[in-house]
Order: sequence, then structure tokens, then C-alpha cells
Amino acid sequence: MIKNSNPDIQKTSLALAPVAVLKKYQGKGIGGKLIEEAHRKAKELGFDSVILLGHEKYYPKFGYEMTKNYGIKLPFEVPDENCMLIKLTENALKDITGIVEYPKEFYE
Ligand SMILES: CC(C)(COP(=O)(O)OP(=O)(O)OC[C@H]1O[C@@H](n2cnc3c(N)ncnc32)[C@H](O)[C@@H]1OP(=O)(O)O)[C@@H](O)C(=O)NCCC(=O)NCCS
Repeated sequence: MIKNSNPDIQKTSLALAPVAVLKKYQGKGIGGKLIEEAHRKAKELGFDSVILLGHEKYYPKFGYEMTKNYGIKLPFEVPDENCMLIKLTENALKDITGIVEYPKEFYE
């Protein structure tokens, strides 16, 4: 959920975390395929954006951009370059800014 300063404007997004491939299978495109399949499934379920905390050199390959560019912050003290999002449709984050609120399960 992205909580705008205006409480009437809230946006549900998905969080991707973490992607992992067994060492002996890395570098064969499996990580990329998992991410692309996750995007396909997310769209099928009606979601139009994905947010993540991740490696700044890996996720941009798949279209991820810094949340900072959209005025969106993650609720953690982490470098801006690790806070990323992807829009699955052109207008997914139109007029959306604010702080991401993760479900409580993320903290348990
Ligand atoms: C990150 C991970 C999921 C990638 O899986 P994979 O199947 O090897 O990925 P792909 O084969 O689709 O992509 C490989 C590309 O990603 C790059 N890459 C892999 N791990 C990377 C990392 N941590 N940072 C930057 N680039 C990375 C490889 O150099 C390769 O680049 P190239 O396509 O330019 O040659 C896998 O390395 C992994 O499980 N790592 C340990 C867990 C982890 O760090 N997860 C990310 C959490 S943010």
C-alpha cells in the first residue's frame, strides 16, 4: 500500500522479495524468467505496479526504476538506489506519491 499524505488516496502495489536461484543454476536466465513471470501473473491478477528493495545493478535490467523518481519512499533507512519499482501499465502511478506501507507479515 502506498500511503499518500492525503489519506483518501491510497494505492495497492505488490512487493517482490527476495528473488533467489540456487548457485549452480545462476547465470542461466532463471532469475529473469522468474521476475518476468511474476510480472505477468501480477498483471493477470489486476495489479499494475511492483515495489522492491533490491540490488541496484540487477533489477534495472527488468525495467525497475528508483522509487525516488516518483516521490515514493520505502519505510526503511536504506540507500535510494535500492528502493525500486516497476509500472506494469503506463498510468499505474499517476498522481501517486507517498510512503509504502508493508503488510504486518513482512515484519514478523
Ligand atoms: C540475483 C539472482 C536471483 C539472479 O538469478 P540468475 O538466475 O542468476 O539471474 P539471470 O541469469 O536471470 O541474470 C543474470 C545476470 O544478472 C547479473 N546478476 C546476478 N546477480 C546479481 C547481483 N546480485 N547484482 C547485480 N547483477 C547480478 C549477472 O551478472 C547476469 O548479468 P548479465 O545478464 O549481464 O550477464 C541470483 O544471483 C541469486 O539467487 N542471488 C542470491 C540472492 C540474491 O542476492 N537475490 C537478490 C536479492 S535483492
